Amino acid sequence: MPTGPFTDIALVKASLYATAARLAARTGALHAAKITGEDATTTIVDLAARSAPRTRVVCDVGCGRGTTTLALAGRLTPARLIALDQSRALLDVVVSRLRRAGHPADTVLADFHNLPLQEASVDVFVAAFCLYHSPRPDDVIAEIARCIAPGGRAVLVTKSVDSYHEIDHLVAATGLDPEAARRPSLYSSFHGDNAADITSNTALRVHRVVHQKHVFRFSGLDHLAAYVATSPKYHLPEHLIGRAAALAEELLRRLPDEPVIATSTVTYITAARP
Ligand SMILES: C[S@@+](CC[C@H](N)C(=O)[O-])C[C@H]1O[C@@H](n2cnc3c(N)ncnc32)[C@H](O)[C@@H]1O
Repeated sequence: MPTGPFTDIALVKASLYATAARLAARTGALHAAKITGEDATTTIVDLAARSAPRTRVVCDVGCGRGTTTLALAGRLTPARLIALDQSRALLDVVVSRLRRAGHPADTVLADFHNLPLQEASVDVFVAAFCLYHSPRPDDVIAEIARCIAPGGRAVLVTKSVDSYHEIDHLVAATGLDPEAARRPSLYSSFHGDNAADITSNTALRVHRVVHQKHVFRFSGLDHLAAYVATSPKYHLPEHLIGRAAALAEELLRRLPDEPVIATSTVTYITAARP
């Protein structure tokens, strides 16, 4: 199994999601840049609503800041909504967002390799943009399969292995990280080309696979730096790590301040117990 910063469990826990700030900055930069592609949250909730015959108990695994959790609450109105993540800081954000929107939810602080949920107890699982953080995504899917109720559904979402490769080439060309384009993808462990096989080789039957291309246009180098500063992929000089403003200044010295186009294909899988 390929290893890298996204599957380094200690780094993921102690650094990448220790506070909500990096994820908020990364998501904000990507959302502001997106020019083509369906809204991922809407697609996930549509797939969950259409594919699941029952939505009494819904669990959002690796829920992050809870954007999907909120949409699931509003659309599926489950009797029990479980927001599960290994980050206390992110669960705190989810609790306050759900509370403000008037939705009760159980937040569960747990590692998705070992779900503290009863067998056959969940009607709908969503695991969006998180399984690529597992060095053993088959183990997480086996856990989901164990906890899914008869007739229940899972919606698993990930990105293509070549996501944002245009930015890798650009960062390499600046000389700030000449190896950027040669390093393995952050999404290597669970991506658009292996996700359906991993899912069906584990314990679920894949019903549907949908690929959607997303195109992003970063308006200039400030905008690009806001995204690059959140990526653990790049080996930048120490004084630029995580510092968008300093990184933008450095990029401006090396590149024309023009829009940058990048792409990613998002893959949605719906699956059930055989
Ligand atoms: C990119 S965020 C995705 C958040 C959300 N699902 C979304 O679609 O916006 C990845 C999330 O996976 C969580 N995560 C990573 N490894 C995990 C693990 N071993 N167990 C539970 N959650 C994990 C992180 O804490 C983070 O909240």
